[in-house]
Amino acid sequence: MTDCAIGIDIGGSGIKAGAVDLRTGQLVGERLRMATPMPSTPQAVVSAARRLVARIARAVPEAADPATVPVGIGIPSVVVDGITKSAANIDPGWVDYAATFEFSRALARNVVVVNDADAAGVAEMRFGAGVGQLGSVFMLTLGTGLGSALFSDGKLVPNTELGHMEIRGRDAERRSASSARVRRGLSWKAWAADLDEHLIAIDRLFSPRLFILGGGVSKNPEKFVPFLTVKVPIVAAELRNDAGIVGAAMFAAERMDAAQAAPLEPPGAERAPDPAT
Ligand code: BGC
Repeated sequence: MTDCAIGIDIGGSGIKAGAVDLRTGQLVGERLRMATPMPSTPQAVVSAARRLVARIARAVPEAADPATVPVGIGIPSVVVDGITKSAANIDPGWVDYAATFEFSRALARNVVVVNDADAAGVAEMRFGAGVGQLGSVFMLTLGTGLGSALFSDGKLVPNTELGHMEIRGRDAERRSASSARVRRGLSWKAWAADLDEHLIAIDRLFSPRLFILGGGVSKNPEKFVPFLTVKVPIVAAELRNDAGIVGAAMFAAERMDAAQAAPLEPPGAERAPDPAT
């Protein structure tokens, strides 16, 4: 089992990265951050990731070996079989981009690319506010966009994208993401009412047992959680800004371990011709 992996969290405004101790979910060494390149084209973001991984490899001895330390990348996009399929808050060049292949080539490491909210959710379920929570649980990340990760008895149902549910004729995240509060100059209370409407709509469709709210605003839950009326328990995420990095690293390590555990055909063991044919 790999004990260390690198996680990268690509956001609408910043890219965060760090080496993660997978036994504890803690960062090993510093958390690095750089502004997301504008425009956030795949080429620009891939080269930013290459620079971040090189800096981490120099600074953290446990993360130096490309053969044993994989990289997980969380990105605000639907990700299916390593292909990014949507681009709500990043450059449209990510639609149908062979992300896993291109990052692997540029970083010369094993790379796994996943949706950013799915990554953050996996980390919260393992090390944070979701530990031991069964039934349907939603982790929602409130940032530039609103990301969602659904867990059923602790197992992720990927790519749920509830930021794009339609409420009042448009994408719900246009009103409920935390960037919407700043963009529209709203008070916490006024923004909480819009977020509440979104949470109530999700409750109507999924009846979750718990909402875990993450993203930068999870640092100040007292500013808006008291205004929420939805009849579902709400907790603030515990890993705060590190959840996306930690979860991405967990995905990478699990994928690499699974690949190593898969039985390999011994060399030269091609199937013998079937004598009956
Ligand atoms: C994107 C999601 C992402 C969320 C949070 C949304 O606009 O469609 O893929 O998880 O923002 O970044």
